[in-house]
Amino acid sequence: MSLFLPQTTCPDTRLRRPRRHDWSRRLVAENVLTVNDLIWPLFVVEGNGVRQDIASMPGVQRLSIDLLVDAARQAADLGIPAIAVFPSVEATLKTPDAREALNRNNLVCRAVSAVKKAVPQIGIICDVALDPFNSDGHDGIVRDGYVVNDETVEILARMAVVQAEAGCDIVAPSDMMDGRVKAIRDALEAANLVDVQILSYAAKYASSFYGPFRDAVGSKGALKGDKKNYQMDPANSDEALREVALDIAEGADMVMVKPGMPYLDIVRRVKESFRLPTLAYQVSGEYAMMKAAALNGWLDWDRVMLESLMGFKRAGADAVLTYCAPEAAKILGK
Ligand code: PBG
Repeated sequence: MSLFLPQTTCPDTRLRRPRRHDWSRRLVAENVLTVNDLIWPLFVVEGNGVRQDIASMPGVQRLSIDLLVDAARQAADLGIPAIAVFPSVEATLKTPDAREALNRNNLVCRAVSAVKKAVPQIGIICDVALDPFNSDGHDGIVRDGYVVNDETVEILARMAVVQAEAGCDIVAPSDMMDGRVKAIRDALEAANLVDVQILSYAAKYASSFYGPFRDAVGSKGALKGDKKNYQMDPANSDEALREVALDIAEGADMVMVKPGMPYLDIVRRVKESFRLPTLAYQVSGEYAMMKAAALNGWLDWDRVMLESLMGFKRAGADAVLTYCAPEAAKILGK
């Protein structure tokens, strides 16, 4: 006999009661997902009128700047607060010193200023990491087979200033070097870019879920080895809190957990420990997984998408970077 259940066939507490009707379910819902929770990551390529499919991310395309501006306008019209712009850089521009990252007129800077000019009401986020520009596909400078920290940090700080000067509102270091948030904050302040926010990819794991993204930005073929000596071990969670604490101390305005769905425990711990804006990234592999199942008719796309995004809210995320953003926004409405 259970110690917890009353010994009657007629329970006093019927948790099914408030679930019976739609109006009642809506009344007692603990979390809401709105368009304000969405950030749309977009891929940009050179050219005009160019739209390239990405095989491992059905429904996602690389866009030339003109079409990227259209996408940003569409996002703003849907009420999506911000986009994140990722460049797919021509192979000839990738070098071991990733110098194209510091070119004020590089693809991502031109994309940012075009969007800022045409769609000033949308927030623009840029990744600060060297992988799109690095011939070995790593997020930092490689010396003797190892990504060196301090030299990379100096370049990242300059890269963040270049992006901010192009009109980027939020710089998002995704490289996992030590000390980069402080270096970026100092560089922004010195350049009088005091209102540019830093979203640190504070707890970024060495994950296999980034595969399709590396196809999208063309760093997959280039990548030598893996990123395990700078990105976090999926076995760890206390360490994520140390990463977040450091980044806050160094001046981060918001922090991110990445990937998303397999790391919702980290989102919850970060939010509860620090109570600061906590974002999560539903990465390319998560999108690919859900999309592939939906295209096979195995999952209902709209429902699975919204349920997965609600999972982030329930875990405590304030916003989610998701390739589903425009589709979700269309359903959610403004
Ligand atoms: C690069 C970067 C990656 C992602 C965002 N920024 C890939 C990586 O670290 O190798 C992945 C995003 C995704 O998979 O959707 N610094």
